[in-house]
Amino acid sequence: MIKKILIGQLQPGMYIHDLNCDWMSHPFARSKFLLKDPADIGKIHEAGIPEVYIDTDKGLDVVDAPTESEVRAETEHRMLELAAAPAPEPIKVSAIEELARAQRIHEQAGRVVRNVMNDARLGRAVQVADIEAVVTDITASVARNNGALLSLLRLKDADDYTYMHCVAVGTMMVTFARHLGLEAEIVRQAGIGGLMHDVGKMKIPDKVLNKPGKLTEEEFAVIRHHPEEGHAILVASGAVGEIPLDITLHHHERIDGSGYPHKLTQDRISTLAKMSAIVDVYDAITSDRVYHKGMAPTEALRKMFEWSKFHFEEKLVHHFMRCIGIYPVGTLVMLESGRLGVVTDQTDGNLLAPRVRVFFSTRANCYIKPEELDLTRGSDRITSHELPEKWGVDPMRFLQAA
Ligand SMILES: [Fe+2]
Ligand SMILES: [Fe+2]
Repeated sequence: MIKKILIGQLQPGMYIHDLNCDWMSHPFARSKFLLKDPADIGKIHEAGIPEVYIDTDKGLDVVDAPTESEVRAETEHRMLELAAAPAPEPIKVSAIEELARAQRIHEQAGRVVRNVMNDARLGRAVQVADIEAVVTDITASVARNNGALLSLLRLKDADDYTYMHCVAVGTMMVTFARHLGLEAEIVRQAGIGGLMHDVGKMKIPDKVLNKPGKLTEEEFAVIRHHPEEGHAILVASGAVGEIPLDITLHHHERIDGSGYPHKLTQDRISTLAKMSAIVDVYDAITSDRVYHKGMAPTEALRKMFEWSKFHFEEKLVHHFMRCIGIYPVGTLVMLESGRLGVVTDQTDGNLLAPRVRVFFSTRANCYIKPEELDLTRGSDRITSHELPEKWGVDPMRFLQAA
C-alpha cells in the first residue's frame, strides 16, 4: 500500500515510493528506492522535502499514516470546494480569436529574453527597455483573453528551455497579479521580475544547466547560486526596480524555511516572491524535459495544493488555481458522453465547466464534426483530463481550427 508520512517518521527499512516534490529539487538518482542509509534521511530533509510516499508492501509500515488515495481524495475535495467561484474578469475576445496574436507575442518574447539573457552571459548590461516592451504586449494579450497565451507556455525545446521558462513565468506573473487586482505598475514590475527571474542561470556552466540527467550534490550547490547571481546582474544594470530584484532573489524561498538562498520563512517572504515560487514550480513540473514528461496542468495543481502545506502560501495557491483554471485553455478532456474535446475558454460560473470544443468520439472511435459546448448549460460534463499521447491527438490543432 502507498502511504504518505512526515520526514520525521522516516526510518531505514522503509521503501520510498515518491519523494513528493518537484523532481528538480532532490539529489537522488531515482525517486523510488529502499532506504538503507540513515544519512539519506538527512539528504531528503536538506532538499526541503517535508513528506514522502512509502510503499508498505516493499518496506516498513507506519500504521496510522494516510493512504495515497485518501490524500488524493482530500486534496481533490478541497480543490472542488473552491471551483465554483466565479471567473474574475469577463472574457473580451475568445481564446481562439486571440491565439494567432498570442503566438506572435510568445515568439517575440522568447527572442527578446534569449537576447537579454545572452547579453548577461557575456557580461553586458541587461536592456530593461526591451523586457518592458515584452511585458506591455503580454499584458495586452492577457487583458483580451488570458487563456490564449497561457495555452502556449508549456511548449519548450531542450535548447531554449531556460528562456521559454522565463517567458512562461513572466506571463503567469502578469496573469496572476492582474487576477489579484494589483495596480498596473505592480503588474508590470511582476512581469519584468518573472521574465528575468532566472537570469542568474546564465552564469552557470552549460554542462550543469542543461545536463540531461540527475545533478550531483556539487552541481546542485552551483545551481543554488543562481538567485544571487541574477540579483547581482540586475543590480549592475541599474535600471531594475525593487520588485524584479525581490522576485529574482527570492523565487526559491519556501514558507517553511526550506528554500534558498536565505531560508526565509512565511512573513519574511513578500507576496510577489511567494507568487513567483508558485508560478515557477507550476511551470517546471508541467514542462516536458529530456528525461521527464511534464504533468498535466490539472495534476500539477493537485500536487501544488498538497505541497502548499509546507512550501507555498495556501491562499495564493487557491488564487492561482482560480486564475489559470482547473482545466486551463488547451487541456484535453473526456466528457461523460465519451467525446474528447479541448478547453477553449473558462466560463463565468464554474472552473469545472469551461467551454469545450469536442472533436472525437471514443465510443465510435472516430473524429466528429467539431462543436463548441458551454458546459455550464449542463448538456455534458468533464469526467477527466486526458493525455494527448494516449489518444494520439494534438488538442492545440483543434484550438486553432476556428
Ligand atoms: Fe530559479
Ligand atoms: Fe525558474
